[in-house]
Amino acid sequence: MTVQKQTLGEFIIENQSSFKYSSGELSRLINSIRLAAKIVNHEVNKAGLVDILGAAGDTNIQGEDQQKLDVYANEKFIQTLTKRNIVCGIASEEEDSFITINSQDENNQNKYVVLIDPLDGSSNIDVNVSVGTIFSIYRRVTPVGTPVQIEDFLQKGSEQVAAGYVVYGTSTMLVYTTGHGVNGFTLNPAIGSFYLSHPNMSFPEDGNIYSVNEGNYLDFPLGIKKYIKYCQEEEDDRPYTSRYIGSLVSDFHRNMIKGGIYMYPKGSRNPNGKLRLLYECNPMAFIAEQANGKSSDGYTRTMDVEPTELHQRVPFVCGSKNMVEKVEQYMREF
Ligand code: AHG
Ligand code: MN
Ligand code: MN
Ligand code: MN
Repeated sequence: MTVQKQTLGEFIIENQSSFKYSSGELSRLINSIRLAAKIVNHEVNKAGLVDILGAAGDTNIQGEDQQKLDVYANEKFIQTLTKRNIVCGIASEEEDSFITINSQDENNQNKYVVLIDPLDGSSNIDVNVSVGTIFSIYRRVTPVGTPVQIEDFLQKGSEQVAAGYVVYGTSTMLVYTTGHGVNGFTLNPAIGSFYLSHPNMSFPEDGNIYSVNEGNYLDFPLGIKKYIKYCQEEEDDRPYTSRYIGSLVSDFHRNMIKGGIYMYPKGSRNPNGKLRLLYECNPMAFIAEQANGKSSDGYTRTMDVEPTELHQRVPFVCGSKNMVEKVEQYMREF
């Protein structure tokens, strides 16, 4: 007899009491993200059929050409979170500044802020390769009932209450943590429900996959160059396999399941690396650590980096524990 898998909705209700602050607010917030993910998934899935491919014609604060799906996903996540009156502020890769949610309710007691990368891997949209969404949730540090301030967003990753991602891949999955391990849910598109398909996800301690844009090799710090050569040497279980999709979410997801390391080091084009601390690196670092993996900038734990600005970039090394430690050792040595 097959046992029916738990739905995400059931899982959220059942685990609500284990949240650090269990007022039901965080559960409602994750429920809204679940809804927005389904809406975006629907659009991503028909991307070749409707006029949603290609550039939107604008440049975002990152200096990147916005794709239509970047704009669409950004709108849907913001609308879903705003209209349901669940958060007090949102920051997004696609928005110059943070958004203050003015509650219609005078007794607005909303405590959480959300930081999102609405569509991760946008360069892959037009070629039918997996993209994702990343989210990170904090409790505000300024008084409840007042407009949010920049310091509500510039918190260290170690203060995250929850973080997760959606991967719109061969199947669509939502993977998240509230600090009690990592669980993955797969969408059954016929029914429109996410089911718990990957309970207690965990990085193998070691792996044999390395993911890095080697086109930037000449620019990399010596420690990273040496590590890449180490991956390529014929010795023991090496050479390792090189796998790079160019969507952080998808590269991370594969490495968590199979064992591997993702690196986006600094280079002359990207003096601090390319990935954004607040809505890419910190949420992935929280998930990685909750799944027995590790994340750093090569020296410092990602979640200990003190944020100074919303769109700050940091070098990023994340994945199986032993592999990340090896990179850190090379960074110290060379
Ligand atoms: P985004 O699409 O949200 O701007 O993020 C792109 C990021 C990340 O997903 C990916 O791993 C990385 O950029 C790829 O960068 P390169 O094309 O420079 O390798
Ligand atoms: Mn972008
Ligand atoms: Mn991204
Ligand atoms: Mn993005």
